Amino acid sequence: MIKIAITKGRIEKQVCRMLEAKGFDMAPIFNKNRELQIETSDGLSMIFAKSNDVLTFLEHGIVDVGFVGSDTMLESDFDDYYEMLDLDVGKCYFALAAYPEYRTKTFNRRKKIASKYTKVAKNYFASKQEDVEIIKLEGSVELGPVVGLSDAIVDIVETGSTLKANGLEVIEEICDISTRMIVNRVSLKFKKDEIFRLINALKKEDAENA
Ligand code: PRP
Repeated sequence: MIKIAITKGRIEKQVCRMLEAKGFDMAPIFNKNRELQIETSDGLSMIFAKSNDVLTFLEHGIVDVGFVGSDTMLESDFDDYYEMLDLDVGKCYFALAAYPEYRTKTFNRRKKIASKYTKVAKNYFASKQEDVEIIKLEGSVELGPVVGLSDAIVDIVETGSTLKANGLEVIEEICDISTRMIVNRVSLKFKKDEIFRLINALKKEDAENA
């Protein structure tokens, strides 16, 4: 039995559809109601969790494998795992965004940057050797500039429609985001065959033949 934690919602659906396409029996997952832990006939034991909690379950050895967005991985302080696969789904990116004036405005004080991803924001400005004030928001981060709390935001952009609807634009793309398969280091030693069965099922055909 291989134990897997999947980020609830879109990542859960995408990963389960990919496994189904490769012949795994995903019916117990697709037919679940509010159960949080499901076992399939192929020897997969799956739990469905919030993205940060996927990392917590992996860290504590509760699961062998996690499926999580690289945004969550970048923001977390825990990185003691193997990243085995980029699933090339759930694609979006981190960006610095603001009103267009931000580009030409002169700041005589520290810039204020709102973000839900304060570590990503800190690292980005550290790489620019810029000292800014980071303000944590839990969601709807675009509100930062809209209400005058911040000069800019570091946030996830997918279609760009939230920025556009609020008059904001991407000032700079920071890095790409996608769904990753990560593996507990100890599990890879003891459940190598089962884990590679999963990796081989999920990796892209062209990579398989390379
Ligand atoms: C995310 C992100 C942006 C938005 C980007 O927020 O933080 O606000 O989606 O998507 P778009 O480029 O397609 O418009 P989410 O909807 O997850 O909720 P949140 O703002 O409460 O974090």
